[in-house]
Parts: sequence; C-alpha cells; structure tokens
Amino acid sequence: MMKIAILTGGGDCPGLNGAIKWVTKTALDPYLENNRSVKFEVLGIRDGWKGLIKVDPDNSKSRTQHIIPLDEDLVRTWDRYGGTNLGTSRTNPYNPQNDRSEILLKNITKLGINVIVAIGGDDTLSVAYKLHKSGIKTIGIPKTIDGDLLGTDYTLGFDSALNVIMEEVDRLRTTAGSHRRIFVVETMGRFAGWLALRGGECSGSSIILIPELPFNMDRVCDLLLERKRRGIRYSIVIVAEGAKIEGKKEIYKDNKVDDFGHRSHGGIAACIAEHIEKMTHTETRFVILSHLQRGGAPSARDRLMARWFGIAAVDMILNEDFGRMVSYSLGTITSVPLKEIIGQLKLVDMNKHYDTERYNGKRAIL
Ligand code: F6P
Repeated sequence: MMKIAILTGGGDCPGLNGAIKWVTKTALDPYLENNRSVKFEVLGIRDGWKGLIKVDPDNSKSRTQHIIPLDEDLVRTWDRYGGTNLGTSRTNPYNPQNDRSEILLKNITKLGINVIVAIGGDDTLSVAYKLHKSGIKTIGIPKTIDGDLLGTDYTLGFDSALNVIMEEVDRLRTTAGSHRRIFVVETMGRFAGWLALRGGECSGSSIILIPELPFNMDRVCDLLLERKRRGIRYSIVIVAEGAKIEGKKEIYKDNKVDDFGHRSHGGIAACIAEHIEKMTHTETRFVILSHLQRGGAPSARDRLMARWFGIAAVDMILNEDFGRMVSYSLGTITSVPLKEIIGQLKLVDMNKHYDTERYNGKRAIL
C-alpha cells in the first residue's frame, strides 16, 4: 500500500480540482489496479504546505481538520469547478525568517506519506524540490495563470484566465465605442507578460504593455492618437500589472511581503490612464481585472490538461520518476526534473513574440 498526499499551493485557479480528481481516480482505478504491483491510498492536504505543518499526526481531530481522504465518489464532479476544494496558501516551510521544514519532514514521516503530489507554480514546486533533496518522494504538477514556469508549454489556469480577459474586453468594447473612450485594462502575471500578451492578442486589443519591455508613454499616446485620426471610435490598452514606464519602477499595492518574499503588484492601469487622458485629450477609464482572472469554471483546455497532468503524475509514481514535474512540451505530455525549472522565470521572448514598435503581438509567426 502506497500513500499519496496531494496538495495545492499558491494562487488558486481553474484546473486544480481537475488535477486532484485525476490523480485520485487514476491511483484508485480498480481496473488499472489489477495490473499493478502496488495499491494506493490518496490523501488530500488542506491549504497547501500549511496543512502539513499545522497537522498534529498524533491527534485524530487535527488529522481530520487538515487531511481529507480522497476517493472516486468524492472527487467525481470536482473537475467542473474552479478554485481548489483542498484550499491553498502561500506558506513557505523553508522561509529563512520562519523555517518550519523540520516540522514538515517530521509530519510527513509520522503520517506515513510515501509520495507528495504538489500542484503549483514556482514557489510550491521549489518546496517540493527541497523535500526531494531531503529524501521525500515528490512530483510536481504545473499551475499558474502567469504562464511563467520553465520546462512546460502549459500551466493549469492559464487558458481559463485568458478567456476571462477576452470576455471582459469584448464587454468593454460596446461601452468604450459608445462613449468614444480609451479603456486601460490591467491583467495579472507578476513579472511575466504572457497573460497580457496572449489576452491582448486574442481580444484584438490596440496596445499591449508587458513587463519585459519598459514602455514609452509618449509612444503609447502617439499610437492612440494615430488611431483617433483614422476615425476609430475607441481603443483598448492592455497592461500587465508588472509593466513599467521607461525609467520608472513597477507599481505595488503596498509594502507587504508574503512568505516567499513577493509583493503584490497593482495600480499601473490607473497611472497610465491618467497620462493618456491628459496627453490625448480623450476620456480614459481603467479596469483592473484582478482576481476575476482566477475565478469561474475551468475552460475545456484546463479540464483536459488537468486530466492528462493528473494521469501522468500517477504514471510517474509507478515509474518512480520522483523529483520531477509533469510537463507539456511540443504537444506531448512528458516530465522534467524540478531541479532544472525552479527559481527561474519564463519570460516573453521579445524577438519571437513582441512588436516593440507597435507595442503589440508580433506580426510574424516564424
Ligand atoms: O501568481 C498568480 C497571481 O495571480 C499573480 O498574477 C498575482 O500577482 C498574484 O497571484 C496575486 O496574488 P494574491 O492572490 O495573493 O493577491
């Protein structure tokens, strides 16, 4: 009997529940069980790494509070719903200011956990890698709406978030056009421009501003004025939360720092909307899409990828491919060593994807 513990860490997003469902279903599949030399038990850990730190393995009430046994009946409908039914947190057991890694290791052993499947982005997977180095069997499943994880062409949540951006921009068009206004739409994405770039491209936005290239405010206004001169009634500007005006720093909501050392971006849309209104003499409004981008039901793509990632994670357990992350590469599900992908960001490659003159997606595919 092998005990698998699944957890979700970092920001929630659609697709997490599907991955939990498919790890559980594949591990407990009675049909597949006949051809395996091991039997599985699956436990869901509540609230990410926090659950494994807070749990008192010797106390049954505490175990029920932090751990939930998963079975096929329980997870049957989960893939239809956004968020994570296990809960999540941004808890970093290895935070040098508050190191709880010893408790974590002790609890994993006491609970008899044989493998941990961690579903998350760089932060969550960096903990999985540290545990792997300490001899714990771990497997990662990539998730982040930011799309900035190295080693995979897809991260859960990205497509659902893109669909939110596209739908909201579609809605803004009618009101923007009716009033002859400019709208600045702020997307998430931290230091990576993927969400803004792909969201802007699929919604046909006029200008897309991403963190990878500090932008020139005069140039942005010239581009908008050029559209106005052509008689176009309105413009949509997409700006990534981490984008910055040339010579200025990115804008943060406050000074608070989370357990992994991150600050919350936010506010660039308001700042540039003010500039644009002054410089173009056109009424300009802004919208911060914020956590709406992480809400709602998973898209078809996220449901499919969650299914394949979940199934692949169990295959990896059976093949003893530990210390690795499931990955989607060139149309194939495969895996990569955690060691090679953590602590780095996959940013937008300007040469390949971005038109630095027109501040938009590149008009050359190859
Ligand atoms: O990493 C995902 C993400 O949604 C970022 O795009 C965003 O900057 C951040 O999380 C917001 O975090 P929180 O949910 O803690 O406000």
